[in-house]
Amino acid sequence: MSQKAASQKTAKAAKNVKPATTSTKSLLVENRVFKPAAEFSKKARISSMAQYRKMHEESLRHPEKFFAREAKELAWRKPFKKVLDWKCPNAKWFTGGQLNVSENCLDRHLDGPRKTKAAIIWEGEPGEKRVITYQQLHRDVCRFSNVLKRHKVRKGDRVVIYMPMVPEAAVAMLACTRIGAVHSVVFGGFSAESIKDRVLDSGATVVITADGGYRRGAVVPLKKNVDDALKGGDTPVKTVIVLRRTGQDVHIEEGRDYWWHRELEYVDANCPAVALDSEAPLFILYTSGSTGKPKGILHSTAGYLLHAQMTCKYVFDLRDDDVYWCTADIGWVTGHSYMVYGPLAMGATSLMYEGAPNWPENDRFWRIIEEYAVTVFYTAPTAIRAFMKWGDDWLKKHDLSSLRLLGTVGEPINPEAWMWYHKLVGGGRCPIVDTWWQTETGGHMITPIPGATPTKPGTATLPFFGVDAAIVDDLGKEVGTNEQGKLVIRKPWPSMLRGIWGDKKRYQDTYWSEFKGWYFAGDGARRDKDGYIWIIGRIDDVLNVAGHRLGTAEVESALVSHPAVAESAVVGRPDELKGQGVVCFVTVKEGVKAGRELADALKSHVRKVIGPVATPDEIRFAAALPKTRSGKIMRRLLKQIAAGETLKGDTTTLEDINVIAALAAASGED
Ligand code: PRX
Repeated sequence: MSQKAASQKTAKAAKNVKPATTSTKSLLVENRVFKPAAEFSKKARISSMAQYRKMHEESLRHPEKFFAREAKELAWRKPFKKVLDWKCPNAKWFTGGQLNVSENCLDRHLDGPRKTKAAIIWEGEPGEKRVITYQQLHRDVCRFSNVLKRHKVRKGDRVVIYMPMVPEAAVAMLACTRIGAVHSVVFGGFSAESIKDRVLDSGATVVITADGGYRRGAVVPLKKNVDDALKGGDTPVKTVIVLRRTGQDVHIEEGRDYWWHRELEYVDANCPAVALDSEAPLFILYTSGSTGKPKGILHSTAGYLLHAQMTCKYVFDLRDDDVYWCTADIGWVTGHSYMVYGPLAMGATSLMYEGAPNWPENDRFWRIIEEYAVTVFYTAPTAIRAFMKWGDDWLKKHDLSSLRLLGTVGEPINPEAWMWYHKLVGGGRCPIVDTWWQTETGGHMITPIPGATPTKPGTATLPFFGVDAAIVDDLGKEVGTNEQGKLVIRKPWPSMLRGIWGDKKRYQDTYWSEFKGWYFAGDGARRDKDGYIWIIGRIDDVLNVAGHRLGTAEVESALVSHPAVAESAVVGRPDELKGQGVVCFVTVKEGVKAGRELADALKSHVRKVIGPVATPDEIRFAAALPKTRSGKIMRRLLKQIAAGETLKGDTTTLEDINVIAALAAASGED
């Protein structure tokens, strides 16, 4: 390609980078910069931008030195020989070293005053309360590790965990890590079919579940979902361990299903942690991609743990006297890194709440903060927007003065929500860390450092240590100030994913092929004049619904599995509360009557196939979908129609222009 042609392509490419759907529209332009309060900075581990910059520069220039120093804070059974072995796309960190995650999260805290400190404070949705000390948690984990061993779980075996938000979910995870088994937690809001897919893909031989869990006053039938997933016996699962949580009747299959409490009767609390290689697989967590099949993101031991611990240390600035609360579900990566592994590695107190934020009333979260004097609070923009909608009175009834630091994650935060969080929840005194990261990255990647970084509402600000972030056009050239481009990470980092379970090619193709040697995150972003990174949203066919990742192809394949559906195309549209809503364009088969009844049936069908997280907001029936002459669905147009926008851009490649008029006119469900 000539230079001129290349530069024309570059300019065009930069313009072409548009997020899949713009997220929540912001009505507010907030140009103020919020500096960390002197009071906060004085006590923080990193207290100035100069210190942050110096450390960041060292972490990029001399990663081996930087990370070798940080890694000394982990408890090693055998010291590592080499910090990094990198042959794109395969990274090995801390080779030659051996350690154990559960030992780092538990045993090493038992020698001093942390032994009797609360590791987990738990509140159930109906209101039960439990405080579990490090010593008790250690005992519980050891005993459950012995239960797993009794059921022949060995190093490297996969264990699916499908549980409510109860301490035993963390116990199950830590028990796996103690004996070297690889856990795969499946979010409790996923369906039987989703469990089955994950069991089959991971080759899990054991499932750990509960009879049920509480959510908004109702009981989620977890065991029943597992039964449905395993029906037919065509999975490798030999054992199901069932925790009694709700006490409802469940089916117990002789020879396969065992009650958690009964199994404990056979074991003691003596279970030494197994020394594992730094690169030993730690867990698989499924997440959506741009095909119908979720990807099993694989994380390994030392690098993941180091990053989880380091970010808790520098980003949450966690202290021994903090009461830290991350509101994420344990089934998402945030629950893994920032409810379990990071805080426990730090010896912190991690609060866990089982249920919904508006049960029994809209102030449940504020009640919890007040009651336990929570100091660090980490939640999602979608939750913040819901609180705003419910009104300030709910929160004004409570004393939130214990809070000292706030965090957000999961989607771009609109400045209105940021300001509300800052003023009403943080009382204007708490720094806010808007943390950008992904299931694949294992931990925070772009984030303010609370005692150092001046923040601006809506931006995740600057890269964390070891993160070489850039925003580039389609040719990999860095775009100019305030121009949109694709977010890439140009160097390996300790907690990066090590692969997609069972699919090397997809790993290479998805993350490392767009730009050779660089990790492609799938997000669009821009950098402002101060170098701050503003995340715009996904630029692939992945939606972000209430902070949850959802592949449009997954929803489409669920829809076409319904007998009435001929074809479907799913797009996102801006949604005030959830960031994005799910709009499904559907053509029905000959002779099928489209209407509200069918729309409702399709919504429940998608819930059944994937789970309630994927429930469509709207079904729009259409005689045909807009396609190019080569048969490709023109999603760009559908997104505009879904958002109620006037159609922009080229429609000349459209096969039948009338389709568009018909679609725009279709009211959908009536
Ligand atoms: O689009 C980005 C968005 O969430 C995606 C990752 O989703 P998931 O793997 O489910 O992990 C969510 C929790 C880490 C990203 O590609 N995202 C996450 N955090 C932010 C964000 N977008 C903007 N700002 C954030 N702070």
